[in-house]
Amino acid sequence: MPLPYQDSSLPVRERVEDLLGRMTLPEKVGQMLQLDARQDLSEIVLDKLAGSILHTSPAKLVEAAELTARTRLRIPLITAEDCIHGHAFWPGATVFPTQLAMAATWDPALVERVARATAVEAAATGVHWTFSPVLCIARDLRWGRVDETFGEDPFLIGELGAAMIRGYQGEGLTDPTAILATAKHFAGYSETQGGRDASEADISRRKLRSWFLPPFERAAAEGCRVFMLGYQSMDGVPITANKWLLNDVLKEEWGFTGTLVTDWDNVGRMVWEQKVCADYAEAAAVAVKAGNDLIMTTPAFFEGAQEAIRRGVLGEEDIDAAVRRILRLKFELGLFENPRTPDAARQAEVIGNAGHTALNLETARRSLVLLRNEGVLPLPASSPASKRIALLGPNADDVSTQLGDWAGDSGQVDWMPDGHPRELTSTVLDGLRDLLPDGWTLDFDPAVEIERLVPDPEGETFPDGQPRPPISVGVPADPARVAAAAATAAAADYAIVVVGDTVNLNGEHKSTATLELQGGQIALLDAVAATGTPMIVVLIDGKPHALPESALGAAAIVQAFNPGMRGGQAIAELLLGLIEPAGRMPISAARHAGQQPVFYNQTRGQHGSRYADLTQDPLFAFGEGLSYTTVTYDGLSIEEPDVAADGVVRATVRLSNTGERPALETVQVYVSDLVTSVTWASRELKTYRQVTVAPGESVTVSVEVPAADCTLVDADGRRVVEAGDFELLVGPNSRPSALLAAKFRIS
Ligand code: NOJ
Repeated sequence: MPLPYQDSSLPVRERVEDLLGRMTLPEKVGQMLQLDARQDLSEIVLDKLAGSILHTSPAKLVEAAELTARTRLRIPLITAEDCIHGHAFWPGATVFPTQLAMAATWDPALVERVARATAVEAAATGVHWTFSPVLCIARDLRWGRVDETFGEDPFLIGELGAAMIRGYQGEGLTDPTAILATAKHFAGYSETQGGRDASEADISRRKLRSWFLPPFERAAAEGCRVFMLGYQSMDGVPITANKWLLNDVLKEEWGFTGTLVTDWDNVGRMVWEQKVCADYAEAAAVAVKAGNDLIMTTPAFFEGAQEAIRRGVLGEEDIDAAVRRILRLKFELGLFENPRTPDAARQAEVIGNAGHTALNLETARRSLVLLRNEGVLPLPASSPASKRIALLGPNADDVSTQLGDWAGDSGQVDWMPDGHPRELTSTVLDGLRDLLPDGWTLDFDPAVEIERLVPDPEGETFPDGQPRPPISVGVPADPARVAAAAATAAAADYAIVVVGDTVNLNGEHKSTATLELQGGQIALLDAVAATGTPMIVVLIDGKPHALPESALGAAAIVQAFNPGMRGGQAIAELLLGLIEPAGRMPISAARHAGQQPVFYNQTRGQHGSRYADLTQDPLFAFGEGLSYTTVTYDGLSIEEPDVAADGVVRATVRLSNTGERPALETVQVYVSDLVTSVTWASRELKTYRQVTVAPGESVTVSVEVPAADCTLVDADGRRVVEAGDFELLVGPNSRPSALLAAKFRIS
């Protein structure tokens, strides 16, 4: 006879209560642990009785299932991984463009398909859960994790985040190809000081409600099953202890009934880093009482929580509440019946399969943003005259930068020291070699280096035992090599210079103080620019950089971010005019690090509008991006400018393609509330539409904004619509000069 909790015909609630009733205190506390499977797995499963593991190699995924079968109650483990742009720590899996690059597509349907493919690949390997999407707002470009975000705009982040959640969670938890999505990092983690990762965030509750919480509220409404906390403290309260956010807002206001996971050793950090708890017993009590469920990589929570109960600062019923949520998740996933262990046959079918590779190429194509074009692009691939191309720069043939952080050998896992099989990635060099027309010549020379890595003088590990990343030191240009590269450029018809950064200049603990291109890159750009050969700059980087004059004077600039395995092919296709550029900036770029922040939706109010020594205008603005044609916008007209509070603002605008190639336009719709009871953003993106316009054609595009979306957060922290005059701003990007305006009134 199966025990009641083993009987799948019983309701989940009954099964949970039966199992909970059989568990000892150590088993319950163990269930709350999510431990690092790179450590001793048998200790994790058999001694610490962990309920979950992360960073589990392919071999250990198999071992974990065997070990679980030896535990007293055989509670299945739930395995989690950072599959944040593909199942990128699985050798040979599809590595998509990073989240920032995906955001440049502005295409939720495409992002949903990427997440679906990722889930299908991950589920076949025995991974049940991904720590994705990142819903942080990137406002300080020095922060090391800009590449992991969908950029700077809460609305766009919400749209793309919701799409990703749908893609991961598929048909629901019982869908064997679904994985759990995680909305992270809840909330305000990105509001750093000086861009420094995980510093105290200077952020009020009103500011949180205004911009930082809406994407998370959207994720909760979308049914995202897990929320992961950030690392920061706000107003002196570590996020792990923030009852207001975790309980009052997330659970009570938004009705979230899913599971909470801390970030890496958040509970320990309250002891050894933030120093708000004297020991692990105190920290465990604080974390559990604030509503945390799974405790990521704080092994000392095991003894700490039990000690807290002995001391009477934590009740067993508090532990029970968390364990109930964890068990419920496992029952709802059906793990007791089907533990979803690795399936070799299915892996052979789905990992990196042709369909996923095609989707990856489609995503990379759509993610490329053409920022400047003085008529040089597309290169004249169909002209009868053969051309000579100089391909220069350190990122023209660099697999690791192309794949970006959280992939292969980017540093988080130990089982892929050599990354993914080389042949799976097409670099720009590969792409051009494959696609250049017959008779064209390609001369390749990386010419300069970006960095050399040196050990951090403060030691090899952090206090929590995590390795300290090495320090990136710029390598100055070698004048002889730069001269040789300039000679190659001078002899060519076009010079394509691929510059950017590396994974060592992005990531956790890897914020940068500057935004300039490092190492010998500026010297290379200056030298190539001086030759007079038309220069095309391609940026492969984790964040927008402050570009030198030589790059800004280039004949063309393409922003690729980290475009994934098919990125080089997509870039070559774009340069040769085999595809149309369609990406739009999901984030604004600064001219100088000191100009920050440059996000477009800043609050009104400032003396003047510039620095004494520099404009305040961003280098490239949110929403910007060109096509290989010109599209004009005119005739913005609002159907009925007097709108009731429950009404909808309906408008039309005419787009005309005045060039010779098709355009995929992203028609962006911003709203400005003209007089507000509190200071508010000058304009905010409310909706957008992607429309194809054929050469020579005009199309009339309808847009709609519900009056209920024209909100602000008032002085009491309430999101409200304030009746009065508004402006609808429609155009191809967020710059005021690019937007048509029409007034409406909400009564
Ligand atoms: C810490 C990171 O902040 C988080 O984003 C990630 O999911 C976890 N580590 C697990 O790797």
